[in-house]
Amino acid sequence: MSKSTMYKCIAGLVAGAMLPATSIAGTAHASMSAEGSRSISNVGSPVTDEQLSSWDISVFFDGENLPAGTGTLTDGEEIYQIQCAMCHGEFGEGASGYPKMLGAPMDEFIQTAQDGEDNVSIRGVNNLWAHAPTLYDFIRRAMPFFAPQSLTPDQTYAVTGYVLLLAEVIDGDVEDIDADYLRSITMPSADNFYTDTRPDIKNVRCMADCYDYEPEVKASALGGADVSVGAVE
Ligand code: HEC
Repeated sequence: MSKSTMYKCIAGLVAGAMLPATSIAGTAHASMSAEGSRSISNVGSPVTDEQLSSWDISVFFDGENLPAGTGTLTDGEEIYQIQCAMCHGEFGEGASGYPKMLGAPMDEFIQTAQDGEDNVSIRGVNNLWAHAPTLYDFIRRAMPFFAPQSLTPDQTYAVTGYVLLLAEVIDGDVEDIDADYLRSITMPSADNFYTDTRPDIKNVRCMADCYDYEPEVKASALGGADVSVGAVE
């Protein structure tokens, strides 16, 4: 099944599930089959490609699904200063409760984490984001905080580029920020993330008489510790 057909089916199911009972009574036909199961037809209308495209905005780390478009740092600066700087700071320095665009240098960030210190206040685009296309995805879907998804693809390219400039990941001589350019960037933290290869847990669910010995409660969440029950042998 193609991705778009799959989305159509899902969207169709959701639309069907959410219709109020009155509209089902008014326009759709509900009938009982010979076996007694209920079937409903003529509910809702097909999802158009245009409607679907506004949902299909996930950009993957390797740049898959980045939209067509291009932006410049000059446009990005204007958008940033009007729509972003009030929270993230004129120079990307952040503000109380709002993250920095330019965080601490990578080695300092890692050292702080290794020392077990809180490094939330020094995180930023330069030390946290492993892939520029993911940054594009986040800005497009979530920012500006007061009006998410209000930026056009071109505006998002422009402001993503400007954020990368503030974060000192790129320098100011790039002309067109587009899908190819974002894909070509190696983020400072690119090597600090890895794919979690642990296998999925496939334990059989057990709700009663699960142990053939008396389990010993070793810690309690109320005590602030991890909860572990006995040892599975
Ligand atoms: C009203 C305040 C506000 C405005 C305006 C705003 N943001 Fe944000 N931004 C936030 C908050 C709050 C977070 C943290 C969200 C979270 O962690 O879930 C955030 C997170 C971010 C992050 C991730 C930072 C990190 O942790 O690495 C980026 C990038 C970002 N914003 C970019 C932008 C851009 C670009 C704009 C303008 C188009 C913008 N923001 C406008 C409040 C704002």
